[in-house]
Amino acid sequence: MKTAIITGASAGLGQEFVRQLADVFPEIDCYWLIARRKDRLEELAQALPDKQVECLALDLCDTMSFVALQEKLTAERPDVCMLINNAGCGYLGNLGEVDTSTQTRMIDLNLRALVAMTNMTIPFMGPGSNIINVSSIASFCPNPRMTVYSSSKAFVSSFTVGLAEELKPKGIAVTAVCPGPMKTEFLDIGNITGNSKTFQTLPYCDQVRVVAGTLRAAKAGRTIYTPKLFYKAYRVLAKVTPVKLMVKFAAT
Ligand SMILES: NC(=O)c1ccc[n+]([C@@H]2O[C@H](COP(=O)([O-])OP(=O)(O)OC[C@H]3O[C@@H](n4cnc5c(N)ncnc54)[C@H](OP(=O)(O)O)[C@@H]3O)[C@@H](O)[C@H]2O)c1
Repeated sequence: MKTAIITGASAGLGQEFVRQLADVFPEIDCYWLIARRKDRLEELAQALPDKQVECLALDLCDTMSFVALQEKLTAERPDVCMLINNAGCGYLGNLGEVDTSTQTRMIDLNLRALVAMTNMTIPFMGPGSNIINVSSIASFCPNPRMTVYSSSKAFVSSFTVGLAEELKPKGIAVTAVCPGPMKTEFLDIGNITGNSKTFQTLPYCDQVRVVAGTLRAAKAGRTIYTPKLFYKAYRVLAKVTPVKLMVKFAAT
């Protein structure tokens, strides 16, 4: 049975990935949904009567979750043809002024969990499979006041490019999506709402369109996908401008 694993499926972009996956990858018949809020996952599962859905309530900041997943993978040996590393968090605040646990949670979830999920899953993927990593426009240039978050997303984009090359011989495509701000729980959780002029000024991306474009980009085997013309231009600008100059204008 062809299986998709989606992290952060209980809200925002992850939930939208689950809703739209069958539009572009109808051959996938089993979904493993991962997040901490099981009730939300179960609610989403009810909207997918044609699919076999497993709701896995796991905290991906807890390494014991990786042990549980590894055991499940080893026992069931699923045919994973899609991994969507979507779970992520981003907190506003200068280093030295925000709790250490808050700053390091971004590393645990955005980096460690993403690497662990990918490393555990690849052995169960065959030719024609896809990995989608949710990065951000924050990966294009460091963003003061969200330095840890932007650095974590720079890792995600760089990791994607390296992994895509590494997995080419296995026929597995790897895609990073780099959206701009979206109106999801992310903004309140990260203490961003009302506290960032940049987030108040920037154009917002529509989650539904971001997901539709990302799934198409993955199907086409693209490595980096940036939704919205405005952010495509920003990506080019960030590439051609010295980072020490860019960073002066990139504070959140
Ligand atoms: N919103 C934006 O402005 C924006 C812009 C660019 C990129 N992104 C990226 O888009 C991705 C999705 O974010 P979103 O905007 O959809 O945010 P969101 O609405 O806050 O959703 C985050 C998801 O991650 C899950 N999650 C959080 N902590 C977790 C943990 N410890 N273990 C397991 N799952 C966890 C949440 O589920 P539970 O709480 O139930 O665990 C939720 O399903 C992230 O990687 C984010 O960095 C967001």
